[in-house]
Amino acid sequence: MKYHDLSREAQEMEYQTVQAEFDSWQAKKLSLNMARGKPGREQLDMVSDILNVLAGPEDCMDGALDVRNYGELRGIPSARIFFAGLLGCRPEQVYVGGNASLQLMYDTVAKAYTHGLLHSSKPWCKEEKVKWLCPCPGYDRHFKITESFGFELIPVPMTETGPDMDLVEKLVSDSAVKGMWTVPKYSNPDGIIYSEETIHRLASLKPAASDFLLMWDNAYCIHEFQGEYVPFPDILSLCAAEGNGDMVFEFASTSKITLPGAGVACFACSEANMAYITSVMDAQVISFDKVNQLRHVKYLKDKDHTLELMRGHAAILAPKFQTVLRVLDRELEGLDIASWRHPKGGYFVSLNTAPGLAKRTLALCRQAGVTMTDAGATFPYGRDPRDCNIRIAPSLPSVGELEQAMTVFCCCLKLAALESLLNRESALST
Ligand SMILES: Cc1ncc(COP(=O)(O)O)c(C=O)c1O
Repeated sequence: MKYHDLSREAQEMEYQTVQAEFDSWQAKKLSLNMARGKPGREQLDMVSDILNVLAGPEDCMDGALDVRNYGELRGIPSARIFFAGLLGCRPEQVYVGGNASLQLMYDTVAKAYTHGLLHSSKPWCKEEKVKWLCPCPGYDRHFKITESFGFELIPVPMTETGPDMDLVEKLVSDSAVKGMWTVPKYSNPDGIIYSEETIHRLASLKPAASDFLLMWDNAYCIHEFQGEYVPFPDILSLCAAEGNGDMVFEFASTSKITLPGAGVACFACSEANMAYITSVMDAQVISFDKVNQLRHVKYLKDKDHTLELMRGHAAILAPKFQTVLRVLDRELEGLDIASWRHPKGGYFVSLNTAPGLAKRTLALCRQAGVTMTDAGATFPYGRDPRDCNIRIAPSLPSVGELEQAMTVFCCCLKLAALESLLNRESALST
């Protein structure tokens, strides 16, 4: 029964029961971590043959190119072909870098700040104010990048079909709005796939800023753990068809395909952007780790082969997500204190508590030995105005640990809800 429909007496009784359960969890002195979306050990072991694909100097040729040596700033040809196949764009539009797409994202924003982009009249550091659109809940590390350059972060609510496009279209009429974060497939943390209409409206935006930068982070482009692979459109050609070819930079990586500590990342952009940005990068680096790029091409081969590998990840991840969802259903269904999403891909389950409960719930979790991503982290500046969104990361713990951690989590959420109904928080928070 809904907690708020219970009589005060029944709420008191439930409170005593849940408090006793919380005390017993606390006595167990657990140490469980569901804070970050890291692949689990089993996933890393599954792909560790990648470490053996290059045995000697004779394996280090990409056609006529010796990958051990300097050169090829844009990445080795076979890796550019590989990522173009994955993303559905052309190899000339692909830049293959080091192990982290976040680094490439940061660097793109940094280039805009220090040098300006292709269509900037001046570097952004010379602008009086730079504003940035942040669909939320969203990825905390995205927000951190643009916050670190002093940009003003503007929250844009997520809907079932992606960011609220009516609001986005209105906001981009301000020439101080220079860019926007997006995660078009299995958004972090909601696991939402942007609809065709949303993608089309994004590709055909008419921003007042001539150097508006659409950051298209396709981190989870082939990362379904349930059901068939869901195809996605090539954002570069969609933007080009709308006369916006130079507006978008797309990012992806193999962090959650092979090894996050030693993967390969890329960005894709128009040829004009490629010429401009690599002319600026030329002063920065001669080339990234091309040996690792070749290792990845030899191991992953092509998109079809990689999709096959992703089914192996799915087989490991699916039972973990199912455990999280099963415990949420079992413990919280019908209480009307939270709602949660049922993603089919990506790395997170996003849960919204009744307003005002997220921080308290996670503080209680910490006391009981369960660490989760901080409440508020999914919003710009770490401030969730309704204090309700919680990001659950099921990938790292085992199924057994997840069962326990989620049961503790639900107990903490129930306790937070009952404290709030009974005005008990002050007594407990000491
Ligand atoms: C949306 C999104 N982008 C990027 C990353 C990190 O990517 P990389 O390892 O390539 O830096 C993550 C990791 O959780 C993510 O969720």
